[in-house]
Amino acid sequence: MSDSAALSPARIAPSILSADFARLGEEVRNVVAAGADWIHFDVMDNHYVPNLTIGPLVCEAIRPHVDVPIDVHLMVEPVDALIPSFAKAGANVITFHPEASRHVDRSLALIRDHGCKAGLVLNPASSPDLLTHVMDRLDVVLLMSVNPGFGGQSFIPQTLIKLRQVRALIARHVAEGGQPIALEVDGGVKADNIRQIREAGADTFVAGSAIFGKPDYAAVIREMRAQIALADHGAA
Ligand code: DX5
Ligand code: ZN
Repeated sequence: MSDSAALSPARIAPSILSADFARLGEEVRNVVAAGADWIHFDVMDNHYVPNLTIGPLVCEAIRPHVDVPIDVHLMVEPVDALIPSFAKAGANVITFHPEASRHVDRSLALIRDHGCKAGLVLNPASSPDLLTHVMDRLDVVLLMSVNPGFGGQSFIPQTLIKLRQVRALIARHVAEGGQPIALEVDGGVKADNIRQIREAGADTFVAGSAIFGKPDYAAVIREMRAQIALADHGAA
């Protein structure tokens, strides 16, 4: 049995970046029916990252189709102006990259002031030290396991080391009376590596191409949960 047996229940957060945008309402309904816990919503601005995706109007359009939390991952610079727009559009969780905000503490506070859960996203080369002075402002830490900007990239194995470091930081924070903080991982997550990602301490798993790239979403999510259960209870 690994340390992950003590973790909170796992969440699967399909990234709609790999969904069929011509049928987005149907896609999100289907993936929730297939067992998704959150919908991961990737916002790219062709400035902070070299790609351009979707904004608050699309969030508002899918909101009535699902009753699970919408997890908005902002890959935009600057950050603050979009926070109220996404909160109004029905976002439940809003995360952003600290390099993209001039005042990280203020942006985190703004997210909570608008009634959403707040989180920071660390790129592959960013240090967990960035979290130290804002732990009480965080509901989520999202670790990028690819460089942000595109779906379908390969998982960067170094992320496993950072996951263990951040899991330890969160455990210490909670042991000292702090609020719980979700530990989310994003990029290259598949059924065949999710077990080791769980063992390293993640509790929330973003997966885009692994789910939307297959015809049977429920089968992929079932297999992911089975692999997570092996991490939690040990293999025979
Ligand atoms: C990348 C995005 C991810 C991406 C994940 O910048 O933040 O959410 O869609 O896609 P996969 O699971 O295909 O790596
Ligand atoms: Zn993302």
